[in-house]
Amino acid sequence: MIYLDHSRVDAFLDEKSWKRFSPRVVAAHKTLTLGSGAGSEWLGWRRILQEPNDALLEEISRTASFIRAKADVLLCIGIGGSYLGARAIIEALSPNFPISSEEQEDMSSTTPEIIFVGHHLSGAYMRELLVYLEGRSVCAVVVSKSGTTLEPAIAFRFVRQWMESRFDDTAQRIIIITDPESGALNAFADEKDYPRFVIPRDIGGRFSVLSPAGLLPIAAAGVDILSLFYGAVAMLSELAESEGNMALSYAGIRHYLLNEGYTTEVLAHFEPRLSGVASWWQQLFAESEGKNHNGIFPSIAAYSTDLHSIGQYLQDGRRDLFETFLIVKDEEVVTIPPDPGNLDGLNYLSGQSISAVNESAFLGTSRAHEEGGVPNMTLSMDVLSEENLGRCIYFFQHAVSVGGYLLGVNPFVQPGVEAYKAEMFSLLGRP
Ligand code: PA5
Repeated sequence: MIYLDHSRVDAFLDEKSWKRFSPRVVAAHKTLTLGSGAGSEWLGWRRILQEPNDALLEEISRTASFIRAKADVLLCIGIGGSYLGARAIIEALSPNFPISSEEQEDMSSTTPEIIFVGHHLSGAYMRELLVYLEGRSVCAVVVSKSGTTLEPAIAFRFVRQWMESRFDDTAQRIIIITDPESGALNAFADEKDYPRFVIPRDIGGRFSVLSPAGLLPIAAAGVDILSLFYGAVAMLSELAESEGNMALSYAGIRHYLLNEGYTTEVLAHFEPRLSGVASWWQQLFAESEGKNHNGIFPSIAAYSTDLHSIGQYLQDGRRDLFETFLIVKDEEVVTIPPDPGNLDGLNYLSGQSISAVNESAFLGTSRAHEEGGVPNMTLSMDVLSEENLGRCIYFFQHAVSVGGYLLGVNPFVQPGVEAYKAEMFSLLGRP
């Protein structure tokens, strides 16, 4: 289960104006659920949960099993919404350090090393990658809705040529995930007979994690995609009504705070493996809401690490930010040992777990920041599981859509992203 606690925002809300504002949040929710708002042709991320396609989930799992049997390394080529969702879930549910194939329980299906490619334009990364791949069995999943995005297209050219010169069965090892009809990737799939999955027309990149775009790499990493998917399905049904709806509380409070001058939101977590989820959240909110010179700037932080870099600013800098903590109960009981000499003075912690100390760091931070003038909310998961991550995905997608409607923008387009591309392509002399 996931829970939202907004008690550390209450002191910053004026009850009367909050009451006046609440009907607008309900109206934005109805606009979304009735499909009557701007961009309603982009609501496929809700449709796939309302009408689950188990045959497709099975097909994705079969292809993932093929990859797991074949590959030492899986290259996931894509950028923006075409890789952040997969990375978020894979990182959240994978061990912090690689497990050797001997240590993996099921030897018939070991988890390939997952490497993301095509999410930047670093030549050094590409050169080192191709050296690293030498002697390894490689599969590649190429994700691009448009099939025209420059970064993954360049990466795919390198990877394809490298694979074709190393393997006889490249046509099976490369899997394309793209628009149902248009784009260069469909031309490749037709010409080279690559297996292909479709990102439905009505699903945009940053809403595509529960389509094949996210699910295939996630399944290849050994994650239970059924639990992930059906976690989101459960959340969709729990957030159907406006009464007691946590996504509406979150979206409403964010918008209220924005109107009060809190223009930056920091999504902070205390667990390193949630960094990918934070990056996915950041893209979802930035591209959906940042329009018409308005919106909340979505910023991310990994605590307690970043308390030692931006902690001073948060506690004492400009008072225009609020925080959302993404918290997961850490089940690991790694107990701090006693030390006879106690030279570090830590014996007062002997017998406590590191996660208990981490929890105190979280509770202390949320209290100190509230007292310092930073309203904060907490979204917590009782366990870091596929199901709860599925719930989080839908929760944030629902909230950002409501947030976009509260701002009066179409949350499902990103016209601003084109400006840099136009300048870049003009410098590159694209025909
Ligand atoms: O959310 C979005 O739509 C974008 O971030 C896209 O996912 C990103 O630009 C990549 O686009 P494409 O999948 O067409 O290569």
